[in-house]
Amino acid sequence: MSTNLKLNIPEMDSKHDEFIEIFESIRTCTDENFMPLFEKMIAHTKEHFAFEEAIMRQQAFYGIQEHLDEHSALLNEMIYFYEKAKRIPAFGRSYINDYAYGKFERHVINIDSQLAMFLKGLTET
Ligand SMILES: [Fe+2]
Ligand SMILES: [Fe+2]
Repeated sequence: MSTNLKLNIPEMDSKHDEFIEIFESIRTCTDENFMPLFEKMIAHTKEHFAFEEAIMRQQAFYGIQEHLDEHSALLNEMIYFYEKAKRIPAFGRSYINDYAYGKFERHVINIDSQLAMFLKGLTET
């Protein structure tokens, strides 16, 4: 993972590393593997978001609503392009090639980082 995306919360960083790995494979895959990898990316994103949401609830994180809203927007968008790609594969490719990584990166930098800072604050004595 590029250092600017490291949050130093190992469980969050490993979810993000896994996402980047799936993302790299879909970006470079054959047409035949594209939709299955897209499904894998959606399933992983659901798991990744549910994991963070469980932590936020458990720790009564102050910024939970904004974070939940952003997760649901990102996931809905991913599913929207997946559905589009079923009929028009080029839509799916352009989402992956031009758009999806930037969205992920901004989420980690702007939103996940707030949660990470909050969690670090809890462990300080
Ligand atoms: Fe995340
Ligand atoms: Fe998140």
